[in-house]
Amino acid sequence: MSETIISVQDLSKSFGDHEVLRKIDMDVHVGEIICIVGSSGSGKSTLLRCINRLERQTSGKVMFYGKEVRDVQREINEYRSKVGMVFQSFNLFNNMTVLENCMLCTRKVLHLPKEEAFDRAITHLKAVGMAPYIHAKPSQLSGGQKQRVAIARSLCMNPEVLLFDEPTSALDPEMVGEVLNVMKQLATTGLTMVIVTHEMAFARDVSTRTIFMDGGYVAEDAPPSQLFTNPKNPRTREFLSRYLAG
Ligand SMILES: Nc1ncnc2c1ncn2[C@@H]1O[C@H](COP(=O)(O)OP(=O)(O)O)[C@@H](O)[C@H]1O
Ligand SMILES: [Mg+2]
Repeated sequence: MSETIISVQDLSKSFGDHEVLRKIDMDVHVGEIICIVGSSGSGKSTLLRCINRLERQTSGKVMFYGKEVRDVQREINEYRSKVGMVFQSFNLFNNMTVLENCMLCTRKVLHLPKEEAFDRAITHLKAVGMAPYIHAKPSQLSGGQKQRVAIARSLCMNPEVLLFDEPTSALDPEMVGEVLNVMKQLATTGLTMVIVTHEMAFARDVSTRTIFMDGGYVAEDAPPSQLFTNPKNPRTREFLSRYLAG
């Protein structure tokens, strides 16, 4: 197994007396494509948000290359430049152009010179097929185009890991494919990815490991060839049959 980038250890999270994550253990190794599936409310987003430090766990820890991630703003900014996140709702700045969105963090956080930030932005916008739109504002783009820009923006930081929280769930059905294709392409580049998704065919075909979450637990963690065809946990079986039926 390759080197561990992120290690989630005995992590629990409660909102008030509602325990949303229960003793999660999960390692992310270099080059893995991990898909996380599970019913709505099972804690998938909260897990990604704890990894990305948008939420603070109640107990347990998140390690990055063997060091606990501390909630000190300067360290968080540096950590987030290495552990990027793509959201369901794109989170682009609507008052900025596509190019400005893609240059903002590389300029402000990485302090890259303008030319280098520009070159990176163009490289990644080309890769997602959005180079012709550099001067457009997000409001002029379709949902699928916005998400492709958001992915390019994350790639500009040269992250070690990219987290995706249901990147296609806010899209009209005809735009899901273009975003999944970009992600499939990314998966071939060796980028480490952790993807929360309801796209079961994508998870089955693209992930190197699939995790099924249920009621705040990691209920099953297996290669997709096993999880989708011969799940060990009855809850996984039930979820998949419900999912495939509906
Ligand atoms: N900020 C919050 N405050 C209170 N409850 C929350 C908050 N965020 C999530 N929850 C609750 O935690 C549970 C898990 O949510 P979430 O992680 O979003 O699940 P999923 O992404 O799997 O749908 C849900 O019951 C949700 O209502
Ligand atoms: Mg969610």
